Amino acid sequence: MFFYKTLINWYLKKNRDLPWRKTKSPYEIWLSEIMLQQTRVAQGLPYFLKFTEAFPTVFDLANAEESEVLKLWQGLGYYSRARNLHFTAKYVANELNGVFPNSYKGLLKLKGVGDYTASAIASICFDEPAAVVDGNVYRVLSRFYGIDTPINSTEGIKQFKELAQSIIQEEEPGRYNQAIMDFGALHCKPKSPLCNECPLASNCVALEQEKVSELPVKIKKIKVKKRYFNYVVVITEDETTLFSERKGKGIWQGLYQFPLIETTESISANELVKQEEFVSLIPNDAAISLFNKDEIIHKLSHQHLVTKFWVVRVSQIKGDAIKWSEIEQFPTSVLISNFLKDYTNTNSQNLYI
Ligand code: ADE
Repeated sequence: MFFYKTLINWYLKKNRDLPWRKTKSPYEIWLSEIMLQQTRVAQGLPYFLKFTEAFPTVFDLANAEESEVLKLWQGLGYYSRARNLHFTAKYVANELNGVFPNSYKGLLKLKGVGDYTASAIASICFDEPAAVVDGNVYRVLSRFYGIDTPINSTEGIKQFKELAQSIIQEEEPGRYNQAIMDFGALHCKPKSPLCNECPLASNCVALEQEKVSELPVKIKKIKVKKRYFNYVVVITEDETTLFSERKGKGIWQGLYQFPLIETTESISANELVKQEEFVSLIPNDAAISLFNKDEIIHKLSHQHLVTKFWVVRVSQIKGDAIKWSEIEQFPTSVLISNFLKDYTNTNSQNLYI
C-alpha cells in the first residue's frame, strides 16, 4: 500500500499535463495508447492532436481513406499500428455502433490491442484494476523490489505481470497505472534516477543494496547468423587427400580443414560442381557423393554452421596432398574431427548423392 499510495501522491503533484488526461473517452485513450507504443510522449503528442482534429470521433476515423490515415501517421513509424488502428475503428464504428468494449477481456479482442493497451484503457476509462507493464513499469518494479529476473525472459514477463497485478487496487487503478509510468519516465529514469529526492527511497531494495544501476536486467539476444559450409573431402586412388591450415582471422584459425566452399544457401551436387572454387580444385571428372544425408548444424555462440561433407573421388590431385592415414596427426575442429570418426566407422560405399 505504501508503494501504491506514494506513487499516486507523487503523480498528483508532478504529472504531465497531457490532452488525453482530460478525458475518459475510450476512443481518445485508445488512440493515445496506440500512438505511445514504442514512442515517447513528446513525439506522440503532435500526432494525437492532428488525429483528434482530423477525426474527432471513431466514425470519422472509420470513414477515412486508409491513405489519409497513413499520411497523418507518417513519421511515427511501425505502420502496421496505423493499419490496425484504422481496421479497429471500422470494426467499432460498424459492428459495435461506435461503442468500445468496456472491459480488459473485451478490449483484448480488438485488433492491435494487446495486454498493455487493454489494461491501460480498462483502467483509465472503466476503473478496472488491470495493471499495465511497459518499460517504465519494469524499471520501477525491478528496482523497488530488487528483482533481477531478466525482463525479456519468459519467466520475467510472467513474474513482473503477476507482481504488477498483485499491487493494483480497486481504488484509482487508472491514475495509479499512469503514475507508475510517469514515475519511471520522469523520476526513476534509466540513467541518473533521482534517488536523493525519491519518495520511495525508504523501502527501495535496489537503493539499499546499491543495485540501482544494475536493474532492470535484460538478456542480450544475439542474432545468430547462418553460414553454409561445404567441405570437399578429396580422396585419390592412392588414398591421399587435401587438408590444410585455415588462414585468416575468425573461427578455427590455425586448425586444419578440407578445402571449404562457403555458399549463401544450401546447395546440391550440381550446384557444387559449378562453383568456381570447386572447378579450380577439381578440374577433371570426379565421383561426388554427399556423406551426411542431413545437414550438420554446428552451433557456435553467434553462428550456426550448416554443413555438408562432399566426398570427391578422383584419380589424382595436384597440390600438397597428404596421406589419408596421416590425417589424424593434424589439429582440427570438432566439426571435422566428428566427421572423421563417422567416416571411419561407416562403410564408405554407403554415401548419399
Ligand atoms: N506511456 C504510454 N501511455 C502512457 C500514459 N497513459 N501515461 C504515462 N505514460 C504513458
